[in-house]
Amino acid sequence: MKKAMMIVIGLIVATGVLQLFRPEKVPSTPAANLAGVPPEVNRILRTSCFDCHSSEVNLRWYDQLSPASFLVNKHVLEGRKAFNFSGWDSLPTPAQNNMLYYALNQALANEMPLPSYTMVHGSASLSAEDKALLKQYIFSRTPRKTTDTTQLHVADKQYEAFVNGTLQATGKVKPAPNEIAYIPDYRNWKMMSTTDRFDNGTVRMIYANDIAVKAIEEHHTKEWPDGAVFAKAAWKEQVNADGSVTAGAFWQVEFMIKDAGKYAQTAGWGWARWRGDDLKPYGANAAFTQECVSCHQPMKGNDYVFTKPLNLFRALQQKR
Ligand code: HEC
Ligand code: HEC
Repeated sequence: MKKAMMIVIGLIVATGVLQLFRPEKVPSTPAANLAGVPPEVNRILRTSCFDCHSSEVNLRWYDQLSPASFLVNKHVLEGRKAFNFSGWDSLPTPAQNNMLYYALNQALANEMPLPSYTMVHGSASLSAEDKALLKQYIFSRTPRKTTDTTQLHVADKQYEAFVNGTLQATGKVKPAPNEIAYIPDYRNWKMMSTTDRFDNGTVRMIYANDIAVKAIEEHHTKEWPDGAVFAKAAWKEQVNADGSVTAGAFWQVEFMIKDAGKYAQTAGWGWARWRGDDLKPYGANAAFTQECVSCHQPMKGNDYVFTKPLNLFRALQQKR
């Protein structure tokens, strides 16, 4: 009994002493609601995300106890750096939509809010209704409307240039800022799947090179072999007057090149993107890959790959 008492007292004293060591206070200024966003969506984001992704942090008394405070501070500071709603007002609508899409992606993948945080802050957890509401709202911001004539014109001009052969005349495509060279051959690869991104109105084709196709056929898709390459090409979604949706102007193509050793710093993949029909390399410097890796992070258990290969019928057809 006495011994137990001593331990309890010892713990209380130790906790007390720990309080002398505190992390630097995180600056906090009130964050306004996201302009133009309905109150119930703002409520969800504020309750579940703002603590780490806005200028305002609402720490509870127990967050301020050491040693927990060190962890909480780290999350707040890193969270803000990765993603911050506070710049909302100055963003153009497409960038706002993009931000919401990114947020939704993380929420639906159960990556956010950080599970270590919701364990202690139960009220920050997203319920199934919260997620459904976020999704519905984010979808509703980008309803499908008939493509305007300016955009149709861009697609038509590209097509004309293709038909009369001037599209290739743009010269050599520059490498990406991380020195990865453009791979024109992707157009001859096998299609792995296709997606439609509602928020920014693009349709995408995902292609796999021979090594990736072989891996698919052999069911090695949990960890892709070195040499596997994916290309994702996107076109502006063209909503025609008759309601049909087709691929319009070329938008961009991006690659993931597997080499566990060479690209160990970027999750084992080389990342690169070229944008526009002049195939301009994307990214101000080599650090652009952080953006790619962060967003692909929820798929870590799937070797960072989102796309589930559509059945590749070759193997089946051969067996007939
Ligand atoms: C306890 C702090 C915390 C909370 C609460 C939180 N996040 Fe995060 N978030 C982080 C940290 C830390 C990072 C950067 C490191 C990482 O990705 O784990 C991050 C990164 C992100 C990113 C960038 C993607 C990335 O991996 O870099 C997005 C988007 C994001 N969070 C969205 C959300 C959304 C949406 C919510 C609310 C539903 C939310 N977060 C709640 C701490 C938090
Ligand atoms: C906002 C989140 C996000 C960012 C940022 C992002 N990706 Fe992706 N990426 C996705 C999603 C989601 C898919 C799944 C297919 C789809 O939805 O079109 C995907 C798919 C891909 C694929 C096809 C293979 C796969 O994983 O399914 C490639 C290649 C790819 N991305 C390359 C890149 C490159 C290169 C960058 C950085 C320049 C990048 N991505 C940045 C979300 C993102």
